[in-house]
Amino acid sequence: PLVSMTEMLNKAKNEGYAVGQFNINNLEYTQAILQAAQAENSPVILGVSEGAAKYMGGFKTVVAMVKGLMEYYEMTVPVAIHLDHGSSFEKCVEAMYAGFTSVMIDGSHYPLEENIELTKRVVDVAHTIGISVEAELGRIGGQEDDLVVDDAEAMYAIPAECDRLVRETGVDCFAPALGSVHGPYKGEPKLGFDRMKEVMELTGVPLVLHGGTGIPTKDIQKAISLGTAKINVNTENQITSTKTVRKVLEEKPELYDTRKFMGPARDTIKETVIGKIREFGSSNKA
Ligand code: G3H
Ligand code: ZN
Repeated sequence: PLVSMTEMLNKAKNEGYAVGQFNINNLEYTQAILQAAQAENSPVILGVSEGAAKYMGGFKTVVAMVKGLMEYYEMTVPVAIHLDHGSSFEKCVEAMYAGFTSVMIDGSHYPLEENIELTKRVVDVAHTIGISVEAELGRIGGQEDDLVVDDAEAMYAIPAECDRLVRETGVDCFAPALGSVHGPYKGEPKLGFDRMKEVMELTGVPLVLHGGTGIPTKDIQKAISLGTAKINVNTENQITSTKTVRKVLEEKPELYDTRKFMGPARDTIKETVIGKIREFGSSNKA
């Protein structure tokens, strides 16, 4: 069933695993991720960036596609459709009315007071209709779609500020920027685990780790042990599926049937997502 993230993340935090947010970019991503979650009997979050939603034909098209596939696959696991890095109050409301079950309001580029005020407005609307909200503090580096944060702008969240934001807004989960990066890492990721622990103890809400691509398993496990209950992955599916498309087309340059290379790309995404679900520990947690 289509649900908000609240219950699945609280359960994950209590039981010591994380639910994957896998970003969808088109039909094949959506098919692959839903099939992987069902095969693993795992809850799953479909992340939709504003850029990806636009590419796919808008929020309503996304919701219709997801609902159609869930019916077609006879899905029994909990699925959330989540706006990733919502850029404004208006965009969040638009997604909610289109049928999204969860939204992220990313006010991380605003001063604390403004971030709190904006996040609170989104929470007020969302919670009256049972939709979950994620907020961010600090700045996650790297690039995702139109969102670019260079090294100088990337910032670690301050625990006392995180505590204030969570308390004053009532968000359901929270993404403190602690050194993770969107896209491939330059060298080993350096995650701020001491701060993560502090933020977990102060706020008590399930934490979200953005930039899940390229984080070693030991760091994933450590993050989960410190209250991380949601891990976002996008780039890894893009890299692995594109590699497959290249390989198929190089091996058979005469190929022109779209399904003959998008099908294998879809299989690759499914495999990648199954691997992540197992790594995050959410198999059989539906
Ligand atoms: O919001 C989406 C994620 O943070 C994706 O990060 O592309 O580095 O896996 P990633
Ligand atoms: Zn992100």
